[in-house]
Amino acid sequence: MKVLTIGGGGREHAAVEAFYRSGAEIYALMKNANPGIIRRSKKYRLADEKNIQAVCEFAKENDVELAFVGPEAPLEAGIVDALEKMNVRCASPTKAAAMIETSKTFMRELLERHKIKGNLGFASFDNAKDTETHIKSVDYDIVVKPVGLTGGKGVKVQGEHLHSLAEIMQYVNEIFDNNIGGAGVIIEEKAVGEEFTQMVFCDGTRISPMPLVQDHKRAYDGDIGPNTGGMGSYTDADHLLPFVTASERKEALDIIQSIVNALRKDGSTYRGPMYGQFMLTVDGPKLIEINARFGDPEAMNVLPILKTSFTDVCVAMAAGTLNCDAEFERKATVCKYVVPEGYGVKSKAGLPISVDENGVAESGAVAYYANVDIVNDTLVTGTSRSVGVVGIADTIDEAERNCEKALNFVKGEAIFVRHDIGKKELVQRRIDHMNEIRSVKR
Ligand code: AMP
Ligand code: GLY
Repeated sequence: MKVLTIGGGGREHAAVEAFYRSGAEIYALMKNANPGIIRRSKKYRLADEKNIQAVCEFAKENDVELAFVGPEAPLEAGIVDALEKMNVRCASPTKAAAMIETSKTFMRELLERHKIKGNLGFASFDNAKDTETHIKSVDYDIVVKPVGLTGGKGVKVQGEHLHSLAEIMQYVNEIFDNNIGGAGVIIEEKAVGEEFTQMVFCDGTRISPMPLVQDHKRAYDGDIGPNTGGMGSYTDADHLLPFVTASERKEALDIIQSIVNALRKDGSTYRGPMYGQFMLTVDGPKLIEINARFGDPEAMNVLPILKTSFTDVCVAMAAGTLNCDAEFERKATVCKYVVPEGYGVKSKAGLPISVDENGVAESGAVAYYANVDIVNDTLVTGTSRSVGVVGIADTIDEAERNCEKALNFVKGEAIFVRHDIGKKELVQRRIDHMNEIRSVKR
């Protein structure tokens, strides 16, 4: 089957490998020359992923039968709507369905309208004065977010990044003054607990769960520093997480299923991978956000252990025929992203980076190329995350050690890794934190 893939990051490299393993002929469009994607592609084109005309031309020239969109920006631009008009089936949502990610207000209002569990207090504003009045009126700690897309970096949390009303208002004003996200400000109730990611495949009606993942958004060891797109993530062999029970996971899946039902009822049927970010609190899982795509890095944890044909799953999502659950190997995975120094604040980009893939494989890991580019035959870093290294083994501990061994085979100037991800001490801290929260309830 001829498959068009859009995007050139680590998530898309993982998806391309999964398509390749399941026999697809790959046509890749991306803005950067990702060597991992290029070597698996029959043809590729370097172009802006939001350029609908370029994408449609490339699809037509190559008679592609199925399209898969990795990042959110082309979804917001309406790439799926345009491809579907050309009779290309898509394993990704339309612009209307992708609003579940592209507008945080849309997501919260959908939950409210359909009385779906897991919502948090929220209010959206188009000016700083009303925002301030609201903040003064609520009796809970808050989170400040731009309503629109910001690449996962626009969220600031009271008590962590913001410590006074003055600091909060300074950030609110910054969002309005610079029109960050392009759609105003949403103030949310702060949820306290441990975060986890539940992704599912969705065919418009039915969902098929992927293993739970925990991402690490903060830039530095010990969960400090600015929010990033995600520095690394892990999964456990039983597809739960050490601090999440099967029934808590079921609550999260019920919330996602209710969202899928609500979107369909409202006329925006959702097809494609869906990503649910949850905070496990004293009152169960609360929804932090929905993404209309795989998570990045989370895709790099789950796709290498997907046993079912990824091409078949994507065809079924696009056609509305997802009749059974996708299967995953019972393996643990630990992913750590190699990023440019300064990532999260100001990246030192454009410097050489290299990966010894044999060394990585011999360590029990795989490497996925991300925001790198080929300039004068040299692989160089971009401003975002460079290479994802994923250790795979029977336990988190072993997968973490494999990942660390493999990281020695990634060399570069001015690169940085958050090493604490997946280490025993940090995983235990998560478990202890959750136990502490649960004990307050008793
Ligand atoms: P987002 O881009 O919406 O996933 O937010 C980035 C990070 O900010 C999340 O992974 C959480 O750590 C934090 N965050 C976002 N919304 C909330 C919330 N309502 N309560 C607590 N933390 C939040
Ligand atoms: N890892 C978070 C995201 O993909 O948005």
